[in-house]
Amino acid sequence: MSFITKTAAFLNRNALGNLVSESIAIDLGSAATIVYVHGRGVVVDEPSLVAVNTVTGEVVAIGLEAQQMYGREARDVTVIAPLLDGVVADFERTKEMLAHFVRKARGGNSYFSRRALMSVLYGITQVERRALLSAAEHARIGRVVMIEEGLAAAFGGGVRLDDPRASAVVDIGSGTTNVAIVANGSIVHGHAERIGSWDINAAIIDHVRRHRGLAIGAHSAERLKLELASATLPADLSEEITIRGRDVLTGSPGAIEITAGEIYPIAQHVVHKIVESVSTTLTGLPPEVAGDIYDRGIILTGGGAQFGGLDEYLREQTKLSVRIANEPRYAIVRGLAQMFDEPLWLRRILRSEPHPLLDAGADYYS
Ligand SMILES: Nc1ncnc2c1ncn2[C@@H]1O[C@H](COP(=O)(O)OP(=O)(O)OP(=O)(O)O)[C@@H](O)[C@H]1O
Ligand SMILES: [Mg+2]
Repeated sequence: MSFITKTAAFLNRNALGNLVSESIAIDLGSAATIVYVHGRGVVVDEPSLVAVNTVTGEVVAIGLEAQQMYGREARDVTVIAPLLDGVVADFERTKEMLAHFVRKARGGNSYFSRRALMSVLYGITQVERRALLSAAEHARIGRVVMIEEGLAAAFGGGVRLDDPRASAVVDIGSGTTNVAIVANGSIVHGHAERIGSWDINAAIIDHVRRHRGLAIGAHSAERLKLELASATLPADLSEEITIRGRDVLTGSPGAIEITAGEIYPIAQHVVHKIVESVSTTLTGLPPEVAGDIYDRGIILTGGGAQFGGLDEYLREQTKLSVRIANEPRYAIVRGLAQMFDEPLWLRRILRSEPHPLLDAGADYYS
């Protein structure tokens, strides 16, 4: 038991204790929604996708089930991603999707998840925050508190809440790259860019259609990215895989061979933009902060951090040490979960948030 938890117990803060026993952490990402239940770990990790009947407007599948339909939808079904670049693009579908995942996380034990911590992207507008909060309220999650994603990623990536020295954390998601400099349990400096790992897929789809005359789906693009593409020059440029799709000219089914050498510059172009955004954010820091980052380097989180050679490329470009966090896709929910165990820190973090958002009228600590 930590000092802070002991103090909370000593002060007989039953209310704070409640937070510890009934909490869930939610990372509502553009590609995946991850739900962590205190004491049980990650219980939901599913694609942020919803299949909708275009005639009735009814939701027919959510998450993994919707992903299986994606690209091969029935005539009256369309699969949509209700979150775009980390923010709500389709409010109704976000609401239904979140409610579904929270129900799934509860798994019949309705006593927990009365309260939730949810990560939000740095720099989103009040309107975007309210849309998220409102979706969460409609999903009947209970009391919801929003925490900056960078802060959660830092704690989940191994930074201590009470560390006075600065750490740099870069979360590369599907649609966003979020850089946070964290010290003393607060964000000292942050920057979020709406570019992420999905942009590599989009560039691959575009290239194959325009230069090779084949329209390919999202699954094929993901396969090319994971199996063939890399951020650093591949050892074997002639390595190739066969990819299938629709011939742009004839409209018939077709297949082509694609080599690592062909894909490398396509992915590299996007990776370079991501790394450039990180480098720019790291320039002009206050001298003490810059000194700490020079000593400690960068922690990478998010699914995009796992892209082959990205850590090495970032190391080369920034001349800093770079390490990928353990289970980088779960860093944010792990960080949020750590805050359950430190309710006094949570309270402090919320006080220092520029615009803390709690559900209407609720005192989170009572
Ligand atoms: N092993 C891997 N190698 C390369 N890329 C990967 C790997 N695993 C996941 N990814 C990529 O990571 C991305 C998803 O990352 P993540 O789950 O962090 O996104 P997200 O949190 O939903 O998005 P965002 O934070 O931008 O809203 C996908 O584009 C996926 O292709
Ligand atoms: Mg994310």
